[in-house]
Amino acid sequence: EKDGYDYFMLKEIAEQPKAVADTLLGRIDASGTLSLDEVRIPASVLREVNKIVIVACGTAFHAGMIAKYAIEHWTRIPCETELASEFRYRDPILDERTLVVAISQSGETMDTLMALRHAREQGARVLAICNTNGSTIPRESDAVLYTHAGPEVAVASTKAFLTQLVACYLVALYLGQVRGTKWGDEIGSVVRELSEIAVQVEQVLGTMEPVRELARSLADKNTVLFLGRHVGYPVAMEGALKLKELAYMHAEGFAAGELKHGPIALIEQDLPVVVVVPSPRGRSVLHDKIVSNIQEIRARGARTIVIAEEGDETVVPYADHLVRIPATPTLLQPLVATVPLQVFACELATARGNEVDQPRNLAKSVTVE
Ligand code: F6R
Repeated sequence: EKDGYDYFMLKEIAEQPKAVADTLLGRIDASGTLSLDEVRIPASVLREVNKIVIVACGTAFHAGMIAKYAIEHWTRIPCETELASEFRYRDPILDERTLVVAISQSGETMDTLMALRHAREQGARVLAICNTNGSTIPRESDAVLYTHAGPEVAVASTKAFLTQLVACYLVALYLGQVRGTKWGDEIGSVVRELSEIAVQVEQVLGTMEPVRELARSLADKNTVLFLGRHVGYPVAMEGALKLKELAYMHAEGFAAGELKHGPIALIEQDLPVVVVVPSPRGRSVLHDKIVSNIQEIRARGARTIVIAEEGDETVVPYADHLVRIPATPTLLQPLVATVPLQVFACELATARGNEVDQPRNLAKSVTVE
């Protein structure tokens, strides 16, 4: 069943272009209009939504963090993303105009299930984004948008994450379409770019050999840090989570702007730091800020592993290792920027002799609170 791959994780990483394409299939028509009829929440109800709350755990939580940026940008509806395990215990403010989005690959995660039950008790509507047909979370939600990643066997989530992102973008763009926000024009062009993203994921997969080589060379390190800004921040957190669970290494993802507020004290000679660089086009101020962050850490001895868009030459002088990803709009960049981090963690785990598909102490679906 591993189709010739050594691990399910490798197979699932390779399946990502198809998983992404399948999740888009039938949801965008030829004119670039989204049709999410399967989301049985009427447009009239969606127009009344005044707050969105996303609940999820682990990797799905990182997808939700990225969704917040997209939803607020395209819909102008206030959105917060919260760890499902924290949500219910702080008496969150919810009512009939709140849309709660519960993201879960398995559909059985107890923390997420308890959070959505609590939300429905308060009158909120719940939309599930889920990869498992007929599982408990979609059954107990008002509506569901299925991700079509296919079965994910490896404990570490990869293709499910990418499809969760696609589903989140679809929800954000659909809400923008239904409500007609000032970003109307942008929505059409983003939908087009999203339709092409599977090809770009495929391109990234074709250039991963240097990343694997780099990972093997770091097998005796104790710590790796990850930095990002904007949507690159949750990508950094996801890169760190993959490394913790697979390589059993100390890894942390930071918002690059927070460096100077503490974490920069961790930088020492030869410490590997992965930096996710946003596109220099569009919101270029973000890009320039992160380039100075790279300079700051490098001046203090960090070994910089820079993930940057093709054609971005400004990072070249400060990158000890440069990983190129295709040009995408910043909000969509996580779909291509996450892939090298998955490959990196998988290869490091292998180099350290770890069991890639079954990391110690972890289960594929966590059905206890
Ligand atoms: C990490 C990982 C976990 C899950 C989390 C939520 O690679 O797989 O962090 O993402 O346990 O699981 P689901 O999405 O099934 O609710």
